[in-house]
Amino acid sequence: MASGVDLVIFGATGDLSRRKILPSLGALVTRERTKLRVIGAGRSHDTTDQFRELVKEASGNPALAATAEWVTLDYADPASFAPINALITGTAVVIFYLATPPETFSPILVAIANSAMVTKGDPSRRVVLEKPLGYDRKSAKELNAQLATAFDESQVYRIDHYLAKDTVQNVLAFRFSNSLFEPVWNRNLVETIQITVAEEEGIRQRAGYYDQTGAVRDIFQNHVLQLLALVTMEPPTTFDPDYVRRAKRAALRAMSPLDVTSAVRGQYEGYLDEPGVSLESRRETYAAARVSIENWRWDGVPIFVRTGKALRRRATEVVIKLRDAPLLRIGGRRQRGIPTLIVIRVQPDEGITLRIGAKRPGPKFELVPAGMRLDYAKLTKAPLPDAYENVLSEVLAGGHSAFPGAEEIELQWEIVDPLIKAWEAEGHPEVYPVGSWGPRAADDLVAGGGGRWIVSGDEAGTT
Ligand code: BG6
Repeated sequence: MASGVDLVIFGATGDLSRRKILPSLGALVTRERTKLRVIGAGRSHDTTDQFRELVKEASGNPALAATAEWVTLDYADPASFAPINALITGTAVVIFYLATPPETFSPILVAIANSAMVTKGDPSRRVVLEKPLGYDRKSAKELNAQLATAFDESQVYRIDHYLAKDTVQNVLAFRFSNSLFEPVWNRNLVETIQITVAEEEGIRQRAGYYDQTGAVRDIFQNHVLQLLALVTMEPPTTFDPDYVRRAKRAALRAMSPLDVTSAVRGQYEGYLDEPGVSLESRRETYAAARVSIENWRWDGVPIFVRTGKALRRRATEVVIKLRDAPLLRIGGRRQRGIPTLIVIRVQPDEGITLRIGAKRPGPKFELVPAGMRLDYAKLTKAPLPDAYENVLSEVLAGGHSAFPGAEEIELQWEIVDPLIKAWEAEGHPEVYPVGSWGPRAADDLVAGGGGRWIVSGDEAGTT
């Protein structure tokens, strides 16, 4: 009888595997006492002993390292995959994890499809893919078609690690398990929505990937649009992944493609000096855009999204700003109220803040902003798991709730493609200082919608 679990990591000696997959696997195996064997596969001519050393160092788990195996591959030669087949024969569950550059997806999938390693529709054989899942809609469609030759959709796990973040999953719980919020969650009471995905770090050593990719493909196309879909979608019939995906698809379909006249791009000062970046690079390291959702719930509500590298600080947040109270007369004078903000802080300091107006304590009747705050970490004694731990644990359990479906990926490209294309024809992006909040033009973009960017703890938009 088949038994055991094998995780075959293609590109197992690469950056992603060392920094994310193996450490998360180590933590997961230790915490949940999961039993599995890692099979590293890749182009390097490592030996099993060398790979075991790497697994031990990266995962911190000697038991995981002790059983690990290594297979050297020539991706273009399907015959070189035979040792993997030999290792996994008789294994109950096999997960193929493609942690490799996108140009290798096709040969690896061809080799898998033409081998006896998988049977289409067999849930015990699963494939996990990392982005980039295509570089535009057309290539994403081709990739989906190729996946479909060897795998049924239920065997495919496309990683958007934002979906596996606890606080992103909490958006669903927050919206739909509290009857307080749904009645205000629409164009009648929401004035604007903002999403910020800001990073303090630059591109680190990733020029090879990033200089071909840029902020829109790297973050907007996936993390930002997934987050926006969860925030704006209709209540799903049930929380089963299929229904949540259906609701997200409907939200994505209602988003109009990003328009170059309502978008801003920037490049951080010094980007061109980063090792590996082309001296003439016009690649954007910052992008901001206005998004419109054309459906009954959101029509006319300005939505602004932004992301960037080398910004003032790391902050991923969704801000829902409600309309002002209609009239506030205090002491015979008409006064401005304190706008209500619902802030979902994805990271850091995971949590939710409700920013409201309150009376300043004391003899006078004056309003001050006050916050009601849920500190997400306080809901548990254990530290919040890394998103990759959640990803791996879901794949092992055969669950799909942390993974976008094929069509979502295509719809997401459809939204960003026109902007990417338009920017390719333009000159150099505005340069912004490292440690700032990005290009000035991004402030004008929001000011056009009557507001300013809001992020927790920032003087300009205190929450
Ligand atoms: C990845 C991007 O998907 O997300 C990186 O490729 C980015 O460029 C990273 O740094 C951000 O993830 P997190 O979890 O640190 O917000």
